[in-house]
Amino acid sequence: MAKATPASKQPFLTDIKTLRARARKHIEDGAVTAGYQADRAVVIKLLNEALATELVCILRYKRHYFMASGINADAVAQEFLQHANEEQMHADQIAARIVQLKGEPNFSPDGLATRSHAEYVEGGDLVEMIKEDLVAERIAIDSYGDMIRYLGDRDPTTRRMLETILAMEEEHADDLSSLLQDLGR
Ligand SMILES: [Fe+2]
Ligand SMILES: [Fe+2]
Repeated sequence: MAKATPASKQPFLTDIKTLRARARKHIEDGAVTAGYQADRAVVIKLLNEALATELVCILRYKRHYFMASGINADAVAQEFLQHANEEQMHADQIAARIVQLKGEPNFSPDGLATRSHAEYVEGGDLVEMIKEDLVAERIAIDSYGDMIRYLGDRDPTTRRMLETILAMEEEHADDLSSLLQDLGR
C-alpha cells in the first residue's frame, strides 16, 4: 500500500502557473474560467426561467398591491408591495449573474408567462390574492430547490445566490400563510 502523502505535501488542485496561463488565455470570458464546472448553457437557461418567474411575481404582486381593498387591505397591501420589491431585487441579482456567465438576460414580454414557473393570477378578493401568491411562492421554493440540487458544487457562486433567494421565498410563503391565519382562512 502506498504511503499517504501528508496534507502539507499534497499538490493544490491546479498549480499556480497553469491557473495563471488559463486566466490569460480566456480573458474575454470574464468571470467564467476553464475551471467552471457546470454546463454554462444549462445554467443560463435555468437562470432565465428563474428571471421570468421573478418578473411574473413582480407583476402579480404589483397588481395585488394596487387592487387590495377592504378593511384589512392596508397591512396586506404593504406586504404585497414589499414582496414585489424583493422579487425585483431577485430579478436584478439573477440578471447580473447571467451576464457574468456570458449569457443574456431575457426580459422579453413575448412568452414571459410561458418561461415563468409561477403563474400570473389576478385573484378576486384579498384572500384569493393571498392564496394565489402563496401558491406561486411554493412553486418558486420547489424550483429553486431543484436548481440548487442540480448545481451541487459545480457553480458555488450561483448556488449561494439561489440559496439566499430561496430563503427569502420561504419567508414570503410564511408571511402569506400568517396573513391567511390572521384573516381567519
Ligand atoms: Fe423572488
Ligand atoms: Fe417571493
